[in-house]
Amino acid sequence: MEKTNSFTTEHQLRVHSAEDLSGLADGSVDLVVTSPPYPMIEMWDESFSRQSPEAARALEAADGPAAFEAMHLLLDRVWGECYRVLLPGGFACINIGDATRSVGGGFRLYSNHSRITGACEALGFQSLPPIHWRKQTNAPNKFMGSGMLPAGAYVTLEHEYILIFRKGDKRKFDPLEAERRRRSAFFWEERNRWFSDVWDFKGSRQALGAPGGFSRLRGAVFPFELAYRLILMYSLEGDRVLDPFMGTGTTVAAAMAAGRSSVGVEIDASFSEKVVELLPKRVSVLNDRISERLEGHREFLRSYREKKGREPAYQNRHHHFAVVTRQETELRIYFVDSIEKIDEGRLRTTYRTANGGQNQLPLP
Ligand SMILES: C[S@@+](CC[C@H](N)C(=O)[O-])C[C@H]1O[C@@H](n2cnc3c(N)ncnc32)[C@H](O)[C@@H]1O
Repeated sequence: MEKTNSFTTEHQLRVHSAEDLSGLADGSVDLVVTSPPYPMIEMWDESFSRQSPEAARALEAADGPAAFEAMHLLLDRVWGECYRVLLPGGFACINIGDATRSVGGGFRLYSNHSRITGACEALGFQSLPPIHWRKQTNAPNKFMGSGMLPAGAYVTLEHEYILIFRKGDKRKFDPLEAERRRRSAFFWEERNRWFSDVWDFKGSRQALGAPGGFSRLRGAVFPFELAYRLILMYSLEGDRVLDPFMGTGTTVAAAMAAGRSSVGVEIDASFSEKVVELLPKRVSVLNDRISERLEGHREFLRSYREKKGREPAYQNRHHHFAVVTRQETELRIYFVDSIEKIDEGRLRTTYRTANGGQNQLPLP
């Protein structure tokens, strides 16, 4: 984040393995939002085998549990680095699905979410209630096992997890941060929807941050909405968000829309090149989602008036619309003005307020 008068955020894209984040200082990141390659899901076998000779040997020997453990040992190193670079009280949100697979004959569950939870708790993270992301499938072959005959059929996995951890106790806010925190408030009705432990993105646009050209990651990209919500829920405007498994840059795009800086780390250089090339063209797409937040609130106000026959009690200071709670009175929403390439690995985003005009708020 630059110390300029106008509000800008900076986005660094780094190409290396996230097992070593030595380019980032201890406590220099406010939030981690990420989705690693999923151990024991076949599409990631090659990537894990390239990075871990133990995983390659175990897969070759059809030893499922050993392959699972070797793959997680690699991820453990990344979680260790995330813990180090997070500031005390910072959150880590990890999207992960479990795997079911027959390796060497035996069909079984590989519980990625519990393995990661154990590893993160051992590092010192505090576990908080996770979110279940419903990913219903209607594929005709979704049922596995012995058909209509008991007792050899398996239930289908139709959800993934968003594991939520915090580094130690609650984050502390100095007076300037407390102001930023009030500007970063979300709407009462957003809180009611977002802080539920079941998320279903049916109907919402998928992969806003992932324009064409990423065919190798088809199916592995999380929805823009997932990253955007988590960033708004667990960080402040001007904060720095890290995604150690950046892929197509969904987290970076969501950070841009949310007015946060970001760092994306990706082992595959071709992804980071495409992200640098494509994100500057996404200004209007990001602004569409930002408008949806404002439109969503206007819609909420219409139904509030209809049901209650009156306005909510408070007035937002910046946008001059009614809000339900005092905490929303400083809430402020910015539009993206431009996304510029600073160099091969860095982008800068500039903002204007939703009421027009460049924002002149000093940020840290
Ligand atoms: C599940 S995908 C992430 C997708 C991303 N959330 C998105 O929306 O595009 C995992 C990514 O991690 C990358 N990756 C695998 N091993 C890595 C490592 N050791 N360090 C950094 N990135 C790695 C893969 O190349 C892949 O792009």
